[in-house]
Amino acid sequence: MSDSRPAAVIILAAGEGTRMKSSTPKVLHRICGRSLLGHAIAAAGELRPQRLVVVAGHGREQVSAEASADADVVIQEQQLGTGHAVRMVTETLGVISGTVIVTYGDMPLLRASTYRELADAHQAARNAVTVLTAVGDPDGYGRIVRDAAGEFTSIVEQRDATPEQLAITEYNSGCYAFDGGLLADAIKRVSSDNDQQQEYLTDVVAILRGDGHRVGTVRAADAAEVLGVNDRVQLAAARRVLNDRMTVSFMRNGVSIIDPATTWIDVDVTIGADSEIGPGTQLEGRTAIGSGVRIGPGCTLTDTTVGDGAQVRYTVSNQAEIGPNATVGPYAYLRPGVRIGDGAHIGCHVELKNSVVGEGAKVPHLTYVGDADIGKGANIGAGTIFANYDGVAKHHTTVGENAFVGSDSVLVAPVTIGAGAYTAAGSTVSEDIPPGALGIARGHQHNSDDWVLRKRAGTAAAEAASRAVLDKKGEQA
Ligand code: UD1
Ligand code: CA
Repeated sequence: MSDSRPAAVIILAAGEGTRMKSSTPKVLHRICGRSLLGHAIAAAGELRPQRLVVVAGHGREQVSAEASADADVVIQEQQLGTGHAVRMVTETLGVISGTVIVTYGDMPLLRASTYRELADAHQAARNAVTVLTAVGDPDGYGRIVRDAAGEFTSIVEQRDATPEQLAITEYNSGCYAFDGGLLADAIKRVSSDNDQQQEYLTDVVAILRGDGHRVGTVRAADAAEVLGVNDRVQLAAARRVLNDRMTVSFMRNGVSIIDPATTWIDVDVTIGADSEIGPGTQLEGRTAIGSGVRIGPGCTLTDTTVGDGAQVRYTVSNQAEIGPNATVGPYAYLRPGVRIGDGAHIGCHVELKNSVVGEGAKVPHLTYVGDADIGKGANIGAGTIFANYDGVAKHHTTVGENAFVGSDSVLVAPVTIGAGAYTAAGSTVSEDIPPGALGIARGHQHNSDDWVLRKRAGTAAAEAASRAVLDKKGEQA
């Protein structure tokens, strides 16, 4: 078909989802970085429909907040059935002419390409309605009923089906393409004369056929795509399927994933070729990873950018930028506003927040860096603390290029360590150090000779000291 662009996609999302046992509306539960509804909206959006409509009921405020940027939200006050939900749309928005797709907010695995196949087949056959069906275990689904000639005649809900109908293995996915004008007319004639006393959208099939219109089906090539999420077990199953799609697609595009089963990748993540993702890694949100990068094992990166050639192990990072060829971890914690320059090194048990680390700088061991600029080539010794918080406000620290901060320094902000300056190990630095100076801020050392022999006589330490003193005298003699 030249243009299968539908007039509208209507996403039904008013149901309560009681089996989730959750205070969050079902369609707002998240998998792979998006709500279930978000997945449905994204797939529908790819079809570029003229109108995108979401029907909300339970949790309408939250559902509307999620949908309103992309869709018109129609409220269904009471959930009186799928047909009633669609009737609320035509009553609120008027007749929509052209192809109207109806689908559910709890089917996150349906691909845009499948919607497109449905719309294309529908338009090519000039049907009044075309139902997306699947074949498999039909338990719980409406059955696709055909006559002796194999012509599709109607959909019967499981609870209303005869034993013969129950044996049918082709079932209704809940996704349809309609002629919008015919739908608007037929939906008014749906009764609630069934086991649940609800207005069934499925009844429109028999109504349209009775009017002499063509009705048809399209079978989903992959039954897994029409999995609906009703409980948290199905939520996990859907997450697995979507994640497998992500990992397979990355592997096909040149990314090595050591253990796809323990690697979880959100749908908006990007990864360049020849990168390798180690086991137990989560890549979340808008994380963007360059080429030739090694991530993992054991990383959780959220909204983090990683430059080409960088290596990141056992690290948690949120809203940080890791420059090309930088090395991070193991056991680093990068918090929002961190930018790590080219080739810089962040080592073990280092936490950074709202700080810039210059090109080639090193923060190798046991350090907290908050609200700081560290110049390129600087070295921050083991156990350094950037004391950025005075109990009331946060203050900034600047460490100049190629400065050398001695181990166990405390830099009390606001403070500036000049370019090429040193701090003596163990210093508590509260005054600026000029470029090239050594700042020493610690007590002078005094040794009280033979203190142990006098005050701790008879202890192992005193005995060891006596031996050492005798040995030294022997050497000198
Ligand atoms: C429906 C179909 C069934 C199909 C199955 C696929 C009908 C009568 N039956 O059954 O043939 O095999 O889906 O999953 O349509 N909803 C509303 N408002 C309502 C009722 C439902 O928005 O008043 C929404 C729900 O939030 C849900 C979807 O429509 O996302 C399906 O509703 P549900 O009650 O689960 O329909 P099923 O009984 O599963
Ligand atoms: Ca259902």
